[in-house]
Amino acid sequence: MRLAGQLTPLARSYIENSDVVFGVVSNGFARKFLQEISKDYVCLLSYYGDCDVEGKNRHDTYRRMTDTILSAVRTGKMVCAAFYGHPGVFACVSHLAIADARAENFIAEMLPGISAEDCLIADLGIDPGRTGMQSMEATQFMVYERRIDPTSLLVLWQPFLAGELTLKRFDTTATRVQILVEKLARDYPLDHEVILYEAATNPLEKTRMDKMFLRDLPAAALSGATTLVIPAAFPLKWDQAILDRLNALPAAPKVPNPIIQSLERNEMA
Ligand SMILES: C[S@@+](CC[C@H](N)C(=O)[O-])C[C@H]1O[C@@H](n2cnc3c(N)ncnc32)[C@H](O)[C@@H]1O
Repeated sequence: MRLAGQLTPLARSYIENSDVVFGVVSNGFARKFLQEISKDYVCLLSYYGDCDVEGKNRHDTYRRMTDTILSAVRTGKMVCAAFYGHPGVFACVSHLAIADARAENFIAEMLPGISAEDCLIADLGIDPGRTGMQSMEATQFMVYERRIDPTSLLVLWQPFLAGELTLKRFDTTATRVQILVEKLARDYPLDHEVILYEAATNPLEKTRMDKMFLRDLPAAALSGATTLVIPAAFPLKWDQAILDRLNALPAAPKVPNPIIQSLERNEMA
C-alpha cells in the first residue's frame, strides 16, 4: 500500500532480479519506484481499456493480462508480476498466472504483501480476533445470499463498484449504494456506525477513516481505494448448549505446557 516502505525485502529482491516485471499498479509514485528498481518494467494498466470495447468486460482484461505474463514466461525469462497490497487479495490475475504457469510446468510462487485489510487493522485499531471477521466484495455480498453475522466485524471491499453488474464500468451510483444499505439493514440498524477507510499510500496523504451512520452511505464519496468497515453491532452471545456440553466433560489429564517446554528447549540449546 505504501510501496517502498511496505514492500518486503524478498519481494523487492524478486522485482530487482527478474528479467521483466509486469505491473498492475495505478499509483503513479509506486509505478515510478517500480520502474526505477526493475530491469524492464511493463505496465499493464492500459488493458483496462478493453472494458470500453463492445462485448468485452473486466474478465477479458484479466485474461489478457494473464496471457501477456505467460507469454514472457514461455520465452524462458524470469518474470515477476507486481500488484499493490497483497498480490493474492482481490487480485485474480496473480492467481490465474500462477495456475497457468504451473499447468505448463514452470515454477511459480506468490509472495505475500501487506493488504488494505492489514492496514485497516493497524489504523483503526481493530483486532479481528476479538469478534471474528467476515470479509467479502460488496457486489458479491449484494447479489448472493450471504449469511452475515452482525456480532462480528464485516469488511466490504470495492464499495465503489457496489451493484455494478456490467463489469465494464468503474463506478457505482447512490441508488445502487442505497440497495446495498437496504440489504445491510436486514442485519444492522440504520443508525449503526460504519467506517469508510482509505489507507494513505504515501507520507503526504492522510488516511481516511470517516465514520457515519449506515443510512448515510449513499451520499458518501467512494473511490477505488475505499473499503467499507462495519464493526460488530451486537455483543457476542454464548451458545449455552455447547457451553453445557464442554462443562460436563471430565477433566483431561494435565500435559506439560508446550510454550514453557519450547522455552526450556531453546535455553538448553
Ligand atoms: C482489487 S482490490 C485490491 C486489493 C489489494 N490487492 C490489497 O491487498 O489490499 C481493490 C480494493 O482494495 C481496497 N483498497 C485498495 N486500496 C486501498 C486503500 N488505500 N485503502 C483502503 N482500501 C483499499 C478497496 O476496497 C478497493 O476497492
